[in-house]
Amino acid sequence: MNLVDKVKQKISNQFEGDSSGHDWHHIMRVLELARFIQSKEGGDLQLVELAALLHDISDHKFNGGQLDKGGKVAYDLLIELEAQQELAEKVKYIVDNVSYKGANTAAEMTTLEGKIVQDADRLDAIGAIGIARTFAYGGHKGQPMYDPSSQPTLHDSFEEYANSGTNTINHFYEKLLLLSDRLNTKTARELGHERHAVMERFLEQFYNEWNFNADNA
Ligand code: NI
Repeated sequence: MNLVDKVKQKISNQFEGDSSGHDWHHIMRVLELARFIQSKEGGDLQLVELAALLHDISDHKFNGGQLDKGGKVAYDLLIELEAQQELAEKVKYIVDNVSYKGANTAAEMTTLEGKIVQDADRLDAIGAIGIARTFAYGGHKGQPMYDPSSQPTLHDSFEEYANSGTNTINHFYEKLLLLSDRLNTKTARELGHERHAVMERFLEQFYNEWNFNADNA
């Protein structure tokens, strides 16, 4: 069995039954998107596949905000599976830097493989799947779906972003609608257009239905 299959086998049960939108199917979609982007953009396919599989292995949203834990968990797992140290370090770098950290923060990702995996993860956060995942995650966190009196905030730091209690509709303005402009690769930007448009149409219809008024109908 090759290393990618070994990792798949090792981690698949860890994601089963997740209801926060970070389930095994998310990992598989990110893997397929990353493989497609790599086929157009180049880079090391094995590194892309491993980082895609491990990118949520210990997400900050689920481990108390520790930004460096995911990379370490990924690194240790790869070493346990007898991966080369250099490869494990490259995966660790990507896992540590893949997350979105707020509207007014610059994300740095220096490697092509990292840019590809970040793009794949962001594509799965927008579009119809993105809408579904966002409401699933909001419910998981106990957030209201929408509160017309609460305005979205463009966060200046990761701490601010991670600690904000928002509602799910605000999350579109704080993150999801900003993602298509932040995609790294041309291939991902092409895939992002339609997904972005789907969210805009969804929000327009959402407000129309929310504001339905018997007198003006
Ligand atoms: Ni993810």
